[in-house]
Amino acid sequence: MKFFIDTASLAQIKEAQDLGVLDGVTTNPSLMAKEGISGTDAVMKHYVAICEIVDGDVSAEVIGTAYADMIREGENLAALHPRIVVKLPMTRDGVKAIKYFTGKGIKTNCTLVFSAGQAMLAAKAGATYVSPFIGRLDDISTDGVDLIDQIRTIYDNYGFGTEILAASIRHPMHIIQCAEVGADVATCPLSAITALFDHPLTTIGLEKFLADHKKAAQAVKA
Ligand code: E4P
Repeated sequence: MKFFIDTASLAQIKEAQDLGVLDGVTTNPSLMAKEGISGTDAVMKHYVAICEIVDGDVSAEVIGTAYADMIREGENLAALHPRIVVKLPMTRDGVKAIKYFTGKGIKTNCTLVFSAGQAMLAAKAGATYVSPFIGRLDDISTDGVDLIDQIRTIYDNYGFGTEILAASIRHPMHIIQCAEVGADVATCPLSAITALFDHPLTTIGLEKFLADHKKAAQAVKA
């Protein structure tokens, strides 16, 4: 399963890239706003800066909601850098725009997906990625991981090539559960990725190994 980081913070993207396990980045207008990035020029520059840090795909979301605006914006975004994936919302115009970009050989990510039916539409339009938001489903007492499982079954039944990009991940167990049901990608906050490193037995075990090594070295000296 690929690991993407879900942030517009350059510092966090660098940190994740340095860990050696990062496969890409997703952003959205809320994440850009959180970093204080606003205005078309600043947003465009920020996407280029992100692309220069990572080796993998970088999702950049359109703001327009009408088809013509999505096409114009998406083309500008795609021209920024070869790693850019145009992120489009699950709407009628969004799905039409996915079909258009697929025809042009431009990668797309269909965002704001909350049902298997929506995921089928995204796949039929040829989306590179589909982003089911599992945390937001959990927030309304609906099992988000079940949706990933359902989409996996449907895509496998028909050989859809769209990659399932589990989004709105809140914690490390979401990552494990998504891997268990066969998500292709998990896009996560940095904290959820780094939490995977930690286990008390690893800490205790390492302390013991180092203490034993020190004792043995002292015994040789004595
Ligand atoms: C996906 O690409 C979105 O940016 C993201 O995962 C949304 O997560 P949230 O529900 O934590 O805002």
